Amino acid sequence: MKIPLVDLQAQMKLIKSDVLKNITSVVEKCNFVLGEEVQKFEQEFAKYCGASFAVGLANGTDALHLAVRAAGIGTGDEVLVPANTFIATALGVTFAGAKVVPVDVNPKNFLMNISLIEKAITKNTKAIMPVHLYGRMMDLDPVLEITKKHGLIVIEDTAQAHGAELYGKRAGSVGLMGCFSFYPGKNLGCYGDGGLVVTNSSELKDKLISLRNYGSPKKYYHPILGFNCRLDTMQAAVLLAKLPHLDSYNQARYEVAVKYNRALEGVGDLVLPEVPEKKSHVFHLYVIQTKKRDTLLEHLNKQGVGAGIHYPVPIHLHGAYAHLGYKKGAFPVSERLSDEILSLPVYPEITDEQIGYTVEQIKKFF
Ligand SMILES: Cc1ncc(COP(=O)(O)O)c(C=O)c1O
Repeated sequence: MKIPLVDLQAQMKLIKSDVLKNITSVVEKCNFVLGEEVQKFEQEFAKYCGASFAVGLANGTDALHLAVRAAGIGTGDEVLVPANTFIATALGVTFAGAKVVPVDVNPKNFLMNISLIEKAITKNTKAIMPVHLYGRMMDLDPVLEITKKHGLIVIEDTAQAHGAELYGKRAGSVGLMGCFSFYPGKNLGCYGDGGLVVTNSSELKDKLISLRNYGSPKKYYHPILGFNCRLDTMQAAVLLAKLPHLDSYNQARYEVAVKYNRALEGVGDLVLPEVPEKKSHVFHLYVIQTKKRDTLLEHLNKQGVGAGIHYPVPIHLHGAYAHLGYKKGAFPVSERLSDEILSLPVYPEITDEQIGYTVEQIKKFF
């Protein structure tokens, strides 16, 4: 049996006709750049998130970068990010000219450790960038208390948590801005690259609209330096076809996590992920921990199971961030996780048979 980490074809087959209808409409109208589908998707996605505005961008990295810039953060400023995240969280800060300050994560939920935040704050700190990693929405109430006390802002990295919800609020709508990626394998993914920022601030929305379009609020007028990083109309058309399915995709992912947790309880030395209250975790990734990670990964891959590692290197140990001067041991939880975490296949269309096969292979290994 071959089970990919994510099966994009399984999903595509179920929605192909809707997607093609929307794409054909763009092709026929030839409204390729900032066509009406972009605005329509922005409106629908903002509403879905419970935010006032959304600005569609070329990818999630641009969303983070432009959000930091729109907030007026740049050279000499510092932004706190979790040490265990995808590199793009940090890149968004770096591209804006600000300094990345990693914070270690909580070993139970993999998210930025709230008790370590205040120690990392200096006179240069301007923002905290929590990541709702693997699809688990972080409780931002205590973070907001800290930001209030220190006069900081929160920019959420929501690239892995479309639709996650806590205390009645959707991920991305709690901070000043929420940054999304629509990379194909995400819970809501397009058919190429895509990204977006949600916000309740009309001023920030206007800034983001200029920044994504050469710094131009009005055609051929450029009061600020900007970029070319608009959400592609074709991608917006794909996203419009997929958005109505997002809740059921997330529900299916949650059920997969419940099934894995039941089946893997007590197997070997596995530490299974917490399955918190429904909706607060949309299981973009299902991540287990074991001291035998590398050999288990090799075994699973050999048996056709597309397990993976998210992520094998914490932010501070990448060559790209060597200039920050951190040594091994600086963020011990993130470092241990990078050696012990393993992601199992999870996608809405995965079958019980595929889950069963994966579990059987893990049991065989131990
Ligand atoms: C946590 C996180 N942040 C940011 C990004 C960047 O998104 P993109 O790949 O669309 O640039 C990703 C996804 O790749 C991500 O997983």
